[in-house]
Amino acid sequence: MVTTEDRARIAVLGRIPDVGLSRLREAGHVWAWERDEPIPGEVRDEQLAIADAAVTLLTNVVDAGFLSAAPRLKVVANVAVGFNNIDVAACAERGVLVTNTPGVLTDATADLAMALILMVTRRLAEGERLIRSGQPWQWGMFMMLGTGLQGRRLGIVGMGAIGQALARRAQAFDMEVVYHSRRPVAPELEAPSDARWVALDELLSSSDVVSVSCPYNAETHHLIDAAALGRMRATAYLVNTARGPIVHERALADALRAGVIAGAALDVYEHEPAVDPGLVDLDNVVLVPHLGSATHATRDAMAMLAARNVAAVLAGEPPLTPVG
Ligand code: DGY
Repeated sequence: MVTTEDRARIAVLGRIPDVGLSRLREAGHVWAWERDEPIPGEVRDEQLAIADAAVTLLTNVVDAGFLSAAPRLKVVANVAVGFNNIDVAACAERGVLVTNTPGVLTDATADLAMALILMVTRRLAEGERLIRSGQPWQWGMFMMLGTGLQGRRLGIVGMGAIGQALARRAQAFDMEVVYHSRRPVAPELEAPSDARWVALDELLSSSDVVSVSCPYNAETHHLIDAAALGRMRATAYLVNTARGPIVHERALADALRAGVIAGAALDVYEHEPAVDPGLVDLDNVVLVPHLGSATHATRDAMAMLAARNVAAVLAGEPPLTPVG
C-alpha cells in the first residue's frame, strides 16, 4: 500500500488553478498555499524542508536561501514563461531542475501587447478617464486625436514566440515590422509578418512604436534607458509587456514629461508592484497590472504545463519544458 509518506511531496507556493492542482495530486502528495498574498517565509521553509518538487509563481524568489531550505528538492516548476525570479545557476549547482511555461501564453501576451499599442496610440485610457470623471464633453473635430497604425513601423525588441505572434497581429493592422534580437530568426519565422532584422539603434530611431518582448537578464537590464529613449522619435510610443527592469522607469517618466517620446503603455514595472509616481499622473501613459497572460484558459494551461513538468521529473522522466 502506498502511504502519504511514500509519495513524493509537492509544495505549491502560490495560488494556481484547480486543473493544475488536480494533475499534481496524481503525481504526489500536494501541499498548497491557497491565498493571494505572498506565502510567509517560515511557512514556505517548513514545506520546502520536506518537498521533492516546488511549484512557484513569478512572485516567489528562488535563491540560495530558498534552496538551502529544500534539501530534497528535485525540481522547481515556475508557472510563468519568464524565470528571472529563479537563480537557475544555483539550482543547477544543487542538481535541481527548473522548468517554465513557454508556448501556452504566447497568444494572450501578444494580444495584450497589441491592445496596449491600440490603447496608447488612440488615447483610449485617456478617453475612458474623461467619461468617468464626469466632465462635460461632446464630439469634436479635434478632440483626442491619436495616431493610426496603418503604414507605421513597429519595432519589436526580442523576436521569440511572443514577438513573432505580435508581429503577425501588427501585420493584420498593415504595420511594417522590424525587429531586433541577438541574431536574425529563421526566414520562415519572419515570413508571416514580412519582418526584417535591424540593429537596435536603427529600430529605436526609425520605429513609430517600439514594443519590448525580450527576456529579462543581465544583458537586457535597462536596455531601454535615457540614451535609448533619446534615440526614439518624438512621435513614437514605447510598449513593455516583458519585464519591468528592461526599461529604466524613471528615465521613461522623465522622457515622457519632456516630450522626448509621445507616449508609453506598460504591463510590467521595474519595482513591481510599485509604479514610478512620475508615470501615474501622465495622460500619455497606459498602465495595466501585469495582465499579459491573464485569461482563464491561459492560466489553466500554464498551471497544467507546470504540473506535467513536475509529474515528469518525479516519474524519472525529462521535463517537458526545462529552462537552460
Ligand atoms: C510570464 O509568464 O512570464 C508572464 O509574465 C506571466 O504573465
